[in-house]
Amino acid sequence: MKSYRIALIPGDGIGKEVVPAGRQVLEALAGTESGFQMEFESFDWGGDAYRKHGEMMPANGLDALRGKDAILFGSAGDPDIPDHITLWGLRLKICQGLDQYANVRPTRILPGIDAPLKRCRPEDLNWVIVRENTEGEYSGAGGRVHQGFPIEVATDLSVMTRAGVERIQRYAFKLAQSRPRKLLTVVTKSNAQRHAMVMWDDVAREVAKDFPDVACDKEMVDAMTARMVNRPASLDTIVATNLHADILSDLAAALAGSLGIGPTANINPERVYPSMFEPIHGSAFDIMGKGIANPVGTFWTAAMMLDHLGEAAAAARLMQAVEQVTANPALHTRDLGGTATTAQVTEAVCAAITSSRPLATA
Ligand code: IPM
Ligand code: MG
Repeated sequence: MKSYRIALIPGDGIGKEVVPAGRQVLEALAGTESGFQMEFESFDWGGDAYRKHGEMMPANGLDALRGKDAILFGSAGDPDIPDHITLWGLRLKICQGLDQYANVRPTRILPGIDAPLKRCRPEDLNWVIVRENTEGEYSGAGGRVHQGFPIEVATDLSVMTRAGVERIQRYAFKLAQSRPRKLLTVVTKSNAQRHAMVMWDDVAREVAKDFPDVACDKEMVDAMTARMVNRPASLDTIVATNLHADILSDLAAALAGSLGIGPTANINPERVYPSMFEPIHGSAFDIMGKGIANPVGTFWTAAMMLDHLGEAAAAARLMQAVEQVTANPALHTRDLGGTATTAQVTEAVCAAITSSRPLATA
């Protein structure tokens, strides 16, 4: 039987609650019926490690991850540690260090979820946002000099390389091509940012020539926010820079009903390094330790992980169980207006998995 080596990095805040929930559903799925096993190794990296050892993860931490088939990540962020330290010390270190350059964020309105848009039917909102994940506004280039003096200068330099832009555009075109509508919207801001974003548009136009069957349009990022709200059905696959997609993906998750539901995959498409899967929601200090975090984002994330590992039937079975559970308002957590706990939702999804018949392999 196939066995996958999975690294678990719960991280901080509610990551410590939802990652164990994710493990529980993966264990319910694995075994003889699904035809694969999972071998988990947990890494206690994050804010507590920083308090103890002065670093979010050990200097050689990436070496421990390289041999894994995939990584399931919770969140990084701690009320007592500056956000740029928790982020750069863990999540971005892994994304950049393992060259996970494609950040993929699907959004749909799951059954039973009350989404805020008045005129949007569930079938009108079925998007995948592809976020450039290693450069751009998050390149880390920049600096601060003369700190505290009136002449202080600070820069955050957005760096775009032709190679970096081309590989993310190509990934997005391929993904768009694999979806029924074959429709890609390239988000830009080349009206105001006249160098890198113009190159971004140029490269998109060049890559488009290799995908004649994909319909492609261009939207300025500001106009894109309005289009997501006013004409959601006009969108399918979306590609955007690191920061633009960061913002648009929060909007997308909110339009689909809750940040607690959205999944993310940080993909190294060449599979030289393991890819990392995480819920979109972050550490949510306000509700941590209460057992009320919504684990659905992690379950959907785990389904993306299974898909990446080539276990499409198990991924579909997991999503079917998740949708069966979201359809029942008695199993909604607080972010969805309900009172269910993390444990109750997790148990319900596990029960739905065990009572379901394995789907025929596609
Ligand atoms: C995300 C998050 C992170 C980001 C935060 C935690 C820095 O918002 O994954 O979208 O901006 O990338
Ligand atoms: Mg974000």
